[in-house]
Amino acid sequence: MINVSKIKKGIVLDHIKAGEGHCLYKALNLDKVEDTVVLMQNISSTSKGKKDLIKIETDFDLDFTVLGLIAPHTTVNYIVDGERTEKYRMELPEKVNGIMKCKNPRCITNVEKVEDILFTLKDIKNKEYSCEYCDSVTRYEE
Ligand code: CTP
Ligand code: ZN
Repeated sequence: MINVSKIKKGIVLDHIKAGEGHCLYKALNLDKVEDTVVLMQNISSTSKGKKDLIKIETDFDLDFTVLGLIAPHTTVNYIVDGERTEKYRMELPEKVNGIMKCKNPRCITNVEKVEDILFTLKDIKNKEYSCEYCDSVTRYEE
């Protein structure tokens, strides 16, 4: 097995569903960061067959809202001085800003070019969010 060493500082996205790593890489705009990033695919995982994994050697915190939307099963580990200090399991975000677009064609956001629209979670099961401008419901789709 290829050995990618532990990192000294940064963020490890673990337990990504096998095959989804590159989607998260794109969604998080990791091609734009200047830090060292590794994407590992199809790693044998003790619990559930195979998984993908992303390691980012960075001082910065990243915005993981989109991760909660597209891959809520992912674990986010923060590494400081070579030790994992915090571990989070992503959840569907309560508020989403600047990622979704309103599905209502008559909504002001679609008539004028409104950016950074705030959406609020209405239905967890169906990933449905309401638009702050027109209250109509939009389902998040990858
Ligand atoms: N990791 C790393 N560099 C470190 C510490 C940890 O790259 N200095 C990585 C590990 O390789 C692992 C992830 O961060 O993929 C989580 O580390 P840890 O919580 O120590 O591992 P586990 O306990 O096995 O995690 P889990 O129980 O979530 O599977
Ligand atoms: Zn709207």
